[in-house]
Parts: sequence; structure tokens; C-alpha cells
Amino acid sequence: MGRLIIVSNRVPSPRERSQPAGGLAVGLKDALREGESLWFGWSGKQVQLHGGDPVPRLDKVDNVTYATIDLTPLQYEGFYQNFSNGILWPLFHYRVGLMNYSRTDWKTYLAVNAMFARTLLPLLKPDDTIWVHDYHLFPLGQALRDLGVKCRIGFFLHIPFPPWSLVRSLPGADLLLEDMQSYDLIGVQTPEDAENLNHSLQANGLDARGQAFPIGIDPDEFRAQAEKSMEGPEVERLEGSLRGAKLVLGVDRLDYSKGLPERFRGYEALLARYPEHRGKVTFLQVAPISRGSVEEYRQLRRQLDELTGRINGAYSEFDWTPIRYITRPLPREVLAGFYRRSEAALITPLRDGMNLVAKEYVAAQNPDNPGVLILSHFAGAAPEMDEGILVNPYDPDEIADALHAALTMGLAERRTRWQALEQEVSSTTAISWAADFLQALEAAPVAGRS
Ligand code: G6P
Repeated sequence: MGRLIIVSNRVPSPRERSQPAGGLAVGLKDALREGESLWFGWSGKQVQLHGGDPVPRLDKVDNVTYATIDLTPLQYEGFYQNFSNGILWPLFHYRVGLMNYSRTDWKTYLAVNAMFARTLLPLLKPDDTIWVHDYHLFPLGQALRDLGVKCRIGFFLHIPFPPWSLVRSLPGADLLLEDMQSYDLIGVQTPEDAENLNHSLQANGLDARGQAFPIGIDPDEFRAQAEKSMEGPEVERLEGSLRGAKLVLGVDRLDYSKGLPERFRGYEALLARYPEHRGKVTFLQVAPISRGSVEEYRQLRRQLDELTGRINGAYSEFDWTPIRYITRPLPREVLAGFYRRSEAALITPLRDGMNLVAKEYVAAQNPDNPGVLILSHFAGAAPEMDEGILVNPYDPDEIADALHAALTMGLAERRTRWQALEQEVSSTTAISWAADFLQALEAAPVAGRS
């Protein structure tokens, strides 16, 4: 077999290259280890270029070559900020109303994809297998085919795929789907996403070649991380600061798809309707700022600042604060211990491709005294994890009831639920996900090219 070529907008940072810290890098760990491979994408930097394409910067770590290119400020704005995150992201998370369409950004998106293809081309060999990731790069396969690339090319979408009736509100959605015919296999997270994608393709007279490959984590690695972290100074400090209160934990990028205002109102409803928990529970929400240059994200931040202030103002005692809200990232090694220490995880996205925090939470638990997972029906993980308490994230009272149930649940029920969840998390891992996809890609009929 030839080399594996991974293409994604984000490429692991130099620090993450030797120590994968979650997400795609964990999933690909084994696949990349097997032979020579190349990982191509954006460097994360904006640099003014005067004419011509950027030259990829190459950095080899073991048998993986990382090839990264910079974007110009205009490319960053049109391709990443406006089209990928201001148009595709809301649309694919079922939020058509938040989509800020502009034809100029569509053109920049296509131009950057074509530029990715031109700069990748000289690094390719005929027997390579190419695996393209996520919504930033829908048209990349076609751009490569236009340059004569005949390798197998697979695509995986990490975010949801909504029904055609929504997707079609994007001008040019039909062209985007046509471009996707260049892929020999298209992977999505859930059977619902696969059904939506295949209907969309068929509605446009195209071949339905979407298949579900739910992504997972490396549960053994995360469990070990959590056990180690329990011995660390941060968990001790957390424990001391709680002074016997139960801990409810939320961990998400600060993104409107995560349902954070609704979640905060759900917690507020718990305090209002079940006063016995006042002073006896603390909600810790870690929500690192993300995509801060996009207006909708700034608005969300203002809204959460206000909500946290209002709820804490109304319910705090001089020696107890109901919500602790952190917008800085915490190290993964520390978070793993916080997961294990907490009585419940509150993960209530309005829509989410998968949500790996839910899986990490399960892997981190102490089998003798596990915490309870509260999960939105609309997370891609929900169909696999229905032994958690599943909630409708739009209903604060349902969140409050779920929190009350979690905080009062007996050990026997917590263990039964956790054991079933743990089985699930251990059987579909990040590693089996990558292996299954690549195997299906090798077996896929080659998309019409001579
Ligand atoms: C989601 C997307 C990824 C993206 C990540 C972080 O998980 O599926 O493609 O990399 O969010 O977002 P950012 O815009 O910082 O890359």
C-alpha cells in the first residue's frame, strides 16, 4: 500500500505532533504509524504574500511529514472566518438564520481550495491514498481531480449533515454536492447524517455514497490520564474549594452550537425548583473562547457573561457560588481528573457532529463510583450513548429534572448505566474508526475517472 495523505484545515501543532492531544490526531495515531505518511493543511498563521502560491513548510516527525501553508489575511477572512465559520458552520448545525451568505466569500472558499490542491500536488505520488477532512475542504477532491490526480480520495465530515431542505438554502449547494462526487467514499458521523447526505445527493441526480463511521476516543489513554490527574495538585485544589459540594461539569468550545445559554438556564431551573441543592452543588463550565473574530461568537460571549452574572447574583451565598465559568482552556491532563471527580457531566449541544467530551467523560470514571452523563438528544454521540440521561437541550425544566435525577441517583443505577456506556466507548474507538474508514475506502469502487 502507498502512503496515507491526510488533509485538514488544522494540522497538529509542533507540540501535539509527538503527544496527540485529542480529536483527529488521536484517531489517526495508528494509521499514521503504519508507513510513510503526510499531513497537509494550514499553519494557523496569516502572512501577506506578494503573488504566487505559498510554499509548504515541511517538518518530519518519525514517519509523518507535516506540510503546512500560511494563508493571507484576505484568504483567512473569506475562506476560514466568513465562508467556513460564518456560512457552512451555522448551516450544517441547522442554524440557517445565522448564515451570513456572500458570493465573494464563496469565491474565496473555492479559490483557497484550488490553492490547497495546487500546493499539495507536487508532494503527491501516484499510489498515495488521500483522506480529506471536514467542511473547510468540501471542494478539494474535485480541485485535485481537475489537476489530474487519480489516487483514491476519501472525505470525512466531522460536523452534522442536515436535510436537503436546509442545505439547499446555501446558494451553490448543488455545485458543492457535485464536487463531492470526486470522492471515492464519504464518511459522516451518524446514520441520520448519512441518510441526509444521501438524500441530498440523490435529489441532485448524484450517486449516494455517504456512510456512517462514528468517531471515538482512545479510552485506555484517557482513563490512564484521569487516574494520574486524580493525584495531581489541581484536583486536590478543586476538591478543597468544593467543600463537600457535588460537582456538575461542562466542557465545550465557546460555540453557539453547544447550547450554553440553554444549559445555564437549565441549571438555574434546578436551583429554582429543587432548592435542596442550593449550596450543595457547583456547576463548573469550561468554555475556551473560539473563533472570537466572528460576530455571533462575540455575541454569545456577552450573553453568557450576563447570564452567569445574573444567576450568580441571584443565588450566591457569601460562601457559595453556583456557577464557575472559565473561558480559558484547561490542560487536558487536568480536565481528565475533573471529569473523574465530578458527579455529573452536563453536555447539551443544540447540534453536534459527535461530541467526544461525552465519550471522554465515560472513560474517565471510577468504575466503583461513576458519575452520571447527561447528554443532548442532538449530539451525534446520543444514539450510541442512550444509557446516559438524554435530554432536549431547549427545555430548561427537562435539564433541571435530569440534573436532579443525576444528583440523587443511587450507586447501583449509576454503575449499571456506566457499564453499558463504557462498553460502547471501548468498542468504537478512534483507532477502529480510522481503520474502518480506510478499509472501506480501499474497497470502494473508484469514482468515475479513467
Ligand atoms: C470542530 C471542527 C474542526 C475544527 C474545530 C475547532 O471540531 O469539526 O474542523 O478544527 O471545531 O475549530 P477551529 O475553527 O478553531 O479550527
